[in-house]
Amino acid sequence: MSGYMTGFGNHFASEAIAGALPIGRNSPQRPAFGLYAEQFSTTAFTAPRAENRRSWLYRLRPAASHPPFERLDNASRLMTAPLAGPVDPNRLRWSALAMPDGPTDWLDGLVTYAANGDAGTGAGIGVHLYAANRSMERRALQFSDGELLIVPQTGVLTLRTEMGLLAVPPGHIALIPRGMRFSVSLDGPARGYVCENYGAPFRLPDLGPIGSNGLANPRDFETPVASFEDDEGGFQLVQKFQGHLWQTTLDHSPFDVVAWHGNSVPLRYDLARFNTIGTVSFDHPDPSIFTVLTSPSDTPGTANCDFVIFPPRWMVAEDTFRPPWFHRNVMSEFMGLIHGVYDAKEGAGDGKGGFEPGGASLHNQMNGHGPDAASTRKAMEADLAPVKLDDTLAFMFESRWVIAPTSVALELDERQTDYDECWRDFPKAKLPRAKG
Ligand SMILES: [Fe+2]
Repeated sequence: MSGYMTGFGNHFASEAIAGALPIGRNSPQRPAFGLYAEQFSTTAFTAPRAENRRSWLYRLRPAASHPPFERLDNASRLMTAPLAGPVDPNRLRWSALAMPDGPTDWLDGLVTYAANGDAGTGAGIGVHLYAANRSMERRALQFSDGELLIVPQTGVLTLRTEMGLLAVPPGHIALIPRGMRFSVSLDGPARGYVCENYGAPFRLPDLGPIGSNGLANPRDFETPVASFEDDEGGFQLVQKFQGHLWQTTLDHSPFDVVAWHGNSVPLRYDLARFNTIGTVSFDHPDPSIFTVLTSPSDTPGTANCDFVIFPPRWMVAEDTFRPPWFHRNVMSEFMGLIHGVYDAKEGAGDGKGGFEPGGASLHNQMNGHGPDAASTRKAMEADLAPVKLDDTLAFMFESRWVIAPTSVALELDERQTDYDECWRDFPKAKLPRAKG
């Protein structure tokens, strides 16, 4: 069974077999068909009602029924905050992550580029890229360190979750709640980005004076209907817990939830539905105007992580330098490109492709960045007629905490070691001659 229900933060209810979902209570003495009731909480029981997230699952066996986890000793390139060592303050950029040579599934294809905060205390993010070419077979994952925001760049992902099936092509995103079991199937080579959010679950940003509509509208988020496997074969369950991988073997599919209800759910969202708002006079607003989802921190307005996109849009500003301006930011910024060209980085890099689809860049706290010299020159000479940026879809994970690059990322062949060169060739401003 497949299909979707719409809305963000809704209290959904779904059953794959009629009569499986209890009515009027969560934990009856004898659930229908002998199913087991289980609460799945991704906020504290006592979180304020508006922020409280939990679901009730009705399954063939309790999720608790498994042998001990044992350390999975593999060549994983997954890393988790806090990272050791001094943090490189330099602006960094990488070409598209190369596809693997040998058979590689989504988990084995993950490479951690950066991380911040501390997974143990529930703050910060991990930033991973994946390049994979094989579907998972009888393998399921449980990321206990954080919620996963998945941003495909190439290849359609099919995510089988405990609560149902999500098809996630490039241009869509998926959110998997912390600790929810899932597996990943591919339709061919796949590449993309993952934000592992150790902090508060992503939510829609407040809209302030924008009003009651705009940016990502709640009705465009899609959550799968209940779908289960009644499979008695062996399954490897891999758990990421405090930065390490652990495995156990189940004698059945973990995807045995027949019915569920609640508001802690997996979902997908088509970024093409984002209602993009920008200036209709002069200057363009801060890029926070493009926030799709935000994970707040304890400080109001200062996010653990904002997920921001730069989608196709009209540029109409008068007397305005239209690309993203030069700036130095107390927040730290990790960027990726899903398709097309980003309007601040039209120049090629060092022959490795500049800021290309599947590539990435990292601009850390207080380190100056902005359009490259080629984009700057073009923008200052442009005829400011209305222009449609058609083929572009970039995004940013922006965080209040410095985003430390990993040792693995710094040593990747894909790293463009002369990224700074793109800001070298700026002619000096010419002051008027002093009268003498
Ligand atoms: Fe920036």
